[in-house]
Amino acid sequence: MDAIRWQGNSLALLDQTRLPVEEVWNTYTDYRKVADAIRRLVVRGAPAIGVAAAFGAYLAAHYAPDAELEGRFLAACDYLATSRPTAVNLFWALDRMRAAYGRVKALPPADIRAALRAEAQAVMDEDIEISRSIGKYGLELLRPGMGILTHCNAGTLATAKYGTALAPVYAALDHGLSGLRVYCDETRPLLQGARLSAFEMVSAGVDTTLLCDNMASSLMKSGKVDIIFVGCDRVARNGDAANKIGTSGVAILAAHYGIPFYVCAPSSTIDGAIASGEDIPIEFRPPEEVTELWYEKRMAPEGVGVYNPAFDVTDAGLITGIITERGIVRAPYEEGFRALGLV
Ligand code: MRU
Repeated sequence: MDAIRWQGNSLALLDQTRLPVEEVWNTYTDYRKVADAIRRLVVRGAPAIGVAAAFGAYLAAHYAPDAELEGRFLAACDYLATSRPTAVNLFWALDRMRAAYGRVKALPPADIRAALRAEAQAVMDEDIEISRSIGKYGLELLRPGMGILTHCNAGTLATAKYGTALAPVYAALDHGLSGLRVYCDETRPLLQGARLSAFEMVSAGVDTTLLCDNMASSLMKSGKVDIIFVGCDRVARNGDAANKIGTSGVAILAAHYGIPFYVCAPSSTIDGAIASGEDIPIEFRPPEEVTELWYEKRMAPEGVGVYNPAFDVTDAGLITGIITERGIVRAPYEEGFRALGLV
């Protein structure tokens, strides 16, 4: 399974708004449409957003007349940066593309395009290796028959391949570790757990159970959850980690029940410029995601206010460890990140 492909002269994205009912690939030649796809969650998940943005920026250069290459490329980077605010991978990938441009801007246009294309491909290829490595470190925490709870989707669909929070499960499959049980929180309001993580895990042949978000406490109390893996969209230097709304509640429950709670974070998601979670910008999304989406009829009275933050911040103190591609970091996080050259 994959969700992002470069095909000749276009970017192809598996439309995640339509999963698991239909598997539809959309193709893009216009960076503005790529930005719209990121905004609408056709492509979502922090690393996947970064990869799509890198190719989106490249598309602008690919299709620009020589004389307008610089202007269009830089405008595309600025425009793509407005698509979503929380996942730092978006800004990280665009900064990489701008830096790549800076290194080659004196070259002929064909060479500039080739370098930008290579940089976008590198963002994607490196993400695959990073996920593989997170999977390897996460696998060290797993034993046969364990129950793993995850929230939202931090799997293959959210990255270039393998995912972050689901990478240890894929690694376990590769290594023949038997009997794992994966529990997917449904993840209201956009159902990334029900639609995407459950789809990925069932497709991979994993014993998968879906639960509504408000059932997590009951499941943990039953003793069925041995470990929790979640992804993240931005980690501050102190280890505070923003992830899909509801994650901090899962972490609080995990602390109550004494269940290890791990955040899986590629280096592209660690924001060394931010001291604590208080500085992480949180996206708020349209009220209709709560009142109407997924329902045949609107399920709330007209005029009601709707609180719909897309992310929350889990305090570092609730996190057992942060699994990166360079190893598992434990508190104090800033020191651990420094030791691994991550900030
Ligand atoms: O709004 P989304 O679906 O983009 O939110 C995704 C998440 O919160 C993921 O857990 C996070 O981006 C990590 S993906 C490896």
